[in-house]
Amino acid sequence: METKKILYSGIQPSGAITLGNYIGAISNFVKLESQYNCLFAMADLHALTVRQVPADLRARTIQLTALYIACGLNPENNIIYCQSHVPQHAELSWILSCFSYMGELGRMTQFKAKSEKNSENINAGLFTYPVLMAADILLYQSDLVPVGADQKQHLELTRDIAQRFNGIYGDVFTIPDGYIPKVTAKIMSLMDPLKKMSKSDDPDSYISLLDSFDDIRRKLKRAVTDSDADIRFDPENKPGVSNLLSIYSALKNVSIEEAEKDFSGKGYGELKKDIAEVVVEHIRPIQEKYNMLMQDKAYLNDLLKTNAEKAQSIAQKTLRKVYKKVGLYQIK
Ligand code: AMP
Ligand code: TRP
Repeated sequence: METKKILYSGIQPSGAITLGNYIGAISNFVKLESQYNCLFAMADLHALTVRQVPADLRARTIQLTALYIACGLNPENNIIYCQSHVPQHAELSWILSCFSYMGELGRMTQFKAKSEKNSENINAGLFTYPVLMAADILLYQSDLVPVGADQKQHLELTRDIAQRFNGIYGDVFTIPDGYIPKVTAKIMSLMDPLKKMSKSDDPDSYISLLDSFDDIRRKLKRAVTDSDADIRFDPENKPGVSNLLSIYSALKNVSIEEAEKDFSGKGYGELKKDIAEVVVEHIRPIQEKYNMLMQDKAYLNDLLKTNAEKAQSIAQKTLRKVYKKVGLYQIK
């Protein structure tokens, strides 16, 4: 491999991949992929922190593999792989959990939010979730981690854990930087624009990359806006309209000011209709490619096999070093 820097990111195959995932994460992966050596994971171990239907989790994992490629990631140059195929993630996660404090994990807002949402299943995995994420990132000596705004805190914790470990044992881990663009880092729910768009909410609150075009039009038509008719970007006072403008600006690759200009003098009805068409036209080629890829499961399966081996061989180097540093006996 050339000596490019390393980029790492992951998405959980825990539900439909949303327009939020696409704009907040995948589209940035596509933008950055040629400048880095990249790994993109289906974070299936993370998905287990919330109860999953086994057959669905399996199906979504291969769907996400196809979607990564359909969205434009090159399957030859990037390592698109499944987290659970690389046992080193769970192994490093254990070691790092011995360098993570209860207090700092308890402060994670996602842990608090998910505990409230799943109050009948506040399991230990939900609590140590960010440690596994740190292991994902640090195993590959990643330099850059593109994520949406909701993952910022987890990334900061990753840096803290890495620095703590390096402080004791020397330079073992690369300290990763986040890549979190401002405006599009948080796409909001269509039904409640004060909440982030999430695959675990009501399907009418998100657009899935695999939604039918009629569903996309219907969902956007019903998107919550507000009572005055002004189209301007003002997330505090007009969260719904601002969210629609963010979606438009991200997919059309224009600034927010240009987006506002495109709709000056128009009404909400027209805004929603125009944006629906922009979304549909953006998603159409993705779905076409996705449908093609899903017809060749053998290809996807082979890709996962090859990539699991590639990822393991990189991960094992870091893990071996870590085991040695902390004093685990190595068989000669
Ligand atoms: P997840 O669906 O939680 O596995 O998230 C995968 C990636 O998508 C992460 O980088 C998230 O930060 C990002 N993401 C998820 N939901 C949104 C959203 N509504 N807006 C922007 N980015 C998001
Ligand atoms: N926790 C991330 C999320 O829910 C997904 C993820 C798992 C991830 N491992 C990662 C993202 C490593 C970036 C790097 O969004």
